[in-house]
Amino acid sequence: MDAETLNPRGYPSQSPQQAISTGARTGGCFAAGRQEAGAENVLHKLRNQGFRLETPFLTRLPFPFDLKHGWRQRTAPPLMLEKKIRLEHTHRILFTREVFAPRNHTIRDLLHLDQPHKLPRVLVFVDEAVATANRDLLDDIMAYGQVHADTFTMVDDPIVIPGGEPCKNDFRLVECCWDAINEAALDRHSYVFVIGGGAALDLVCFAASTAHRGIRHVRFPTTTLSQGDGGVGVKNGVNYFGKKNWVGSFAVPFAVVNDFAFLELLPARGRRNGIIEAIKVALIRDRAFFEQIEAMAGDLAALKQEALEQVIQRSAELHVEHIATGGDPFELGSARPLDFGHWAAHKLEQISKFTVAHGEAVAIGMAVDLVYSRMQGILDEATCERVLKLIESIGFATTSPYLMTTGRSGEPAILEGLEEFREHLGGELTVTLVPEIGSKVEVHEMNRVKILNAVVELQKRAVVVEE
Ligand SMILES: NC(=O)c1ccc[n+]([C@@H]2O[C@H](COP(=O)([O-])OP(=O)(O)OC[C@H]3O[C@@H](n4cnc5c(N)ncnc54)[C@H](O)[C@@H]3O)[C@@H](O)[C@H]2O)c1
Ligand SMILES: [Zn+2]
Repeated sequence: MDAETLNPRGYPSQSPQQAISTGARTGGCFAAGRQEAGAENVLHKLRNQGFRLETPFLTRLPFPFDLKHGWRQRTAPPLMLEKKIRLEHTHRILFTREVFAPRNHTIRDLLHLDQPHKLPRVLVFVDEAVATANRDLLDDIMAYGQVHADTFTMVDDPIVIPGGEPCKNDFRLVECCWDAINEAALDRHSYVFVIGGGAALDLVCFAASTAHRGIRHVRFPTTTLSQGDGGVGVKNGVNYFGKKNWVGSFAVPFAVVNDFAFLELLPARGRRNGIIEAIKVALIRDRAFFEQIEAMAGDLAALKQEALEQVIQRSAELHVEHIATGGDPFELGSARPLDFGHWAAHKLEQISKFTVAHGEAVAIGMAVDLVYSRMQGILDEATCERVLKLIESIGFATTSPYLMTTGRSGEPAILEGLEEFREHLGGELTVTLVPEIGSKVEVHEMNRVKILNAVVELQKRAVVVEE
């Protein structure tokens, strides 16, 4: 076939198929799929561009569209090859203390698991706040690399990156990570380590899992929330188009290393936040764990390290168990049981411009759903009260003035959270509620008046608690 006859405008590299898709896309930013334009429209545009449409190649296109007749009636089933691709992943979570102390062999043993006869190359990223809170950390990492140089090669000094939610709002940081990975000449047998809060992990793991179509990465979560919940999962991503986690991927990390010593660096608020995700996962999956948290409530309220470690470890186990055995690790369905209390929480974080931390928002979101469930007859009054008391006794508020903020539509903004949550699920609205401690139920609609009644009741309750 002579490409030049096909394209007198001089785009010899363009294949006929590309020409067709280009033609179909004209008229706006990727208006592709606008089928009302119709086959004739496409033909017309191509003719105007000087394409000769009667070439034997084009009439032999193997799908029911041809340039002479447009969409043909399907007369025979299309040829379809279907093969199952089975993938198996190992999700490893390790618990340790002071992972970069020279005598700690966690990393050494971990790397040995994979490529025992190779000297893997490792590039380390560190959340700035963690490096600031532990001034020795960067030196410790370098020293660890030297002591264990027989097991792996630290290819460069650790790279310090900004952490917290703002780091997920600046896409240039993704490019900076790619840049560092490229400069260090990491390949698909290398490792990226990232030490930090959930936001820094999401950023760097996204960069690592897209560089070279995926470089092994090891997460070292440093907050209670990320060690017990977000950091032990298989998702990553950053915010885009002003939307949370809009761009990202599912990628099982090579390992997650929960080093409890990092938690000692956190301010009180950051230490408390992760406890709520432990209560959440206990409520939906494990009654015995809920009772254990109740028994430890005093120590948890005082943020005692030993109590925190126990609760974070069990929380991580339950989260990972759900991911590994829940049947939907890459969230193809619409149900998200681990997001109990989160539809309102996500909205509250957004309304408050993230001044309400995720853990604090989840405590309030769970309280709304608990009172709502009681009002709907899903949960009995005594259990509802028992859970609210536990949440409050650990130091979480169960309401916020932001709950009554008016939204764009003139109704309370919190209600917009329901539709946004449905969008986030990408299908039917599916909200997980708790009918009794240790189990869950899914509902597909929520009564908006009752939600507001629940919000009002929680506000009144707060006044009584304060008095
Ligand atoms: N990928 C997932 O599956 C998943 C799940 C849940 C949440 N997340 C994401 O996690 C993020 C929240 O993570 P987070 O709660 O860990 O908070 P964070 O990462 O925002 O960290 C909070 C603050 O603490 C700092 N910090 C972190 N560790 C510290 C330490 N040991 N000492 C002192 N300061 C420290 C951070 O720099 C930041 O300023 C959100 O962006 C959320 O979307 C991801
Ligand atoms: Zn959460």
